[in-house]
Amino acid sequence: MEGHSTYQPKGKVAQWFESRLPIVGLIHSSAIAYPVPKNLNYMWTFGAILSLMLVCQIISGVVLAMHYVAYAPVAFERVEHIMRDVSYGWLIRYIHANGASMFFMAVYIHMFRGMYYGSYKAPREVLWILGVIIYLLMMATGFMGYVLPWGQMSFWGATVITNLFSAIPLVGETIVQWLWGGYSVGAPTLNRFFSLHYLLPFMIAGVVGLHIWALHHVGQNNPDGVDIKNVAKDSVPFTPYATIKDTFAMVVFLIFFSWFIFYIPNYLGHSDNYIPANPLSTPAHIVPEWYYLPFYAILRSVPDKLGGVLAMFAAIAVLAFLPWLDTSKVRSAKYRPLFRQFFWVFAAVSVGLGYLGSQPAEGGYVIASRIFTVYYFAHFLVILPLLGLFERPKPVPASIADAVLAKSKGGAVVVAGAAGPETK
Ligand code: HEM
Repeated sequence: MEGHSTYQPKGKVAQWFESRLPIVGLIHSSAIAYPVPKNLNYMWTFGAILSLMLVCQIISGVVLAMHYVAYAPVAFERVEHIMRDVSYGWLIRYIHANGASMFFMAVYIHMFRGMYYGSYKAPREVLWILGVIIYLLMMATGFMGYVLPWGQMSFWGATVITNLFSAIPLVGETIVQWLWGGYSVGAPTLNRFFSLHYLLPFMIAGVVGLHIWALHHVGQNNPDGVDIKNVAKDSVPFTPYATIKDTFAMVVFLIFFSWFIFYIPNYLGHSDNYIPANPLSTPAHIVPEWYYLPFYAILRSVPDKLGGVLAMFAAIAVLAFLPWLDTSKVRSAKYRPLFRQFFWVFAAVSVGLGYLGSQPAEGGYVIASRIFTVYYFAHFLVILPLLGLFERPKPVPASIADAVLAKSKGGAVVVAGAAGPETK
């Protein structure tokens, strides 16, 4: 997909510069002339939305850091200072706090889109694995960010999660003390979490660069899962087509985001985090942010601590093996009738796990978590490998152009049929 740039610098200075650093040509080939499959739907705008959210989080985070102090005795009140005394501090904080949730919402849509359309299959395995690395880095960043306001949930969430490492045989306790920088979550923990919370987004930005490089090298997948064969017939140039569509989707997403910021800024947070951290008082329920809940449910579904920790990490690690666990030659769920149904069951199970993660770990909730956890793993380790062998996919169109024409012909029939009775 690379090498489609037709960019020729015009002026002498531009030519001089381009022959030394061909950056304008790079922008031209990747954001203007780059061929985009002509059948992409709005699910393909989430990469752009995610890039926007990453920039939004970095800018709002850097401004917050100008006023925040990562010292345990004052951290909580510094956040209140931002909310009350700093000009528009409340806005910047609400952008950053809700932005994290929006970022995860967008990433989950982006990942499920990839799973539905088989975007992880050859030749996009590395692109997918880079995505899984980004996701892991996002989870680490979000976790450390939540500790910074130094409220009750910050403190106890950090205590629960860091304690998980103590389940590792022999070295567990040592690792936990090393993470804490002491013998409990305290001032040194807050300081190092702040340092890493500032660092990781830039690492994410680096991996996103690789992610997009890999994407541009292999080309985009699309709803029909067939490759671009004829650039003229199957694709359109990135600008203006994708640029306009992405911009429109970003604006709609920003409206949704604004609704949270301006109307329900604390809806996704936990009220206990407005109580200063108190090591002597444990909250009744320690719940992580919503985007960790499915993994939290998996963690608690296993009665053994080490087993739970392993299951939780395995639930994320298994994603990296998806390209090889799915044995079907057909990419898109559009042509895989059975897979399509299992996909929706899997999506429902993931949401169900999220709900169970928010409930107390007792009685029926634990039993349901166990069943759902088993199903989660069975989807990857049993259903996907077998489906590829036994499923009979529908015929896949020969090209993107064929798929688009078949759809518009189908559309014409429907329109003619609908118009029929009215014209009589
Ligand atoms: C900061 C987070 C991320 C950013 C900024 C980002 C950015 C992008 C962009 C711009 C695209 C192309 C447009 C599109 O397909 O929507 C893309 C494609 C893709 N991303 Fe991401 N991504 C992120 C996270 C992830 C994660 C967590 C995964 C999976 C675990 C992932 C997997 C993919 C795949 C498989 C594609 C190719 C899709 C296709 O062509 O069908 N990405 N990403």
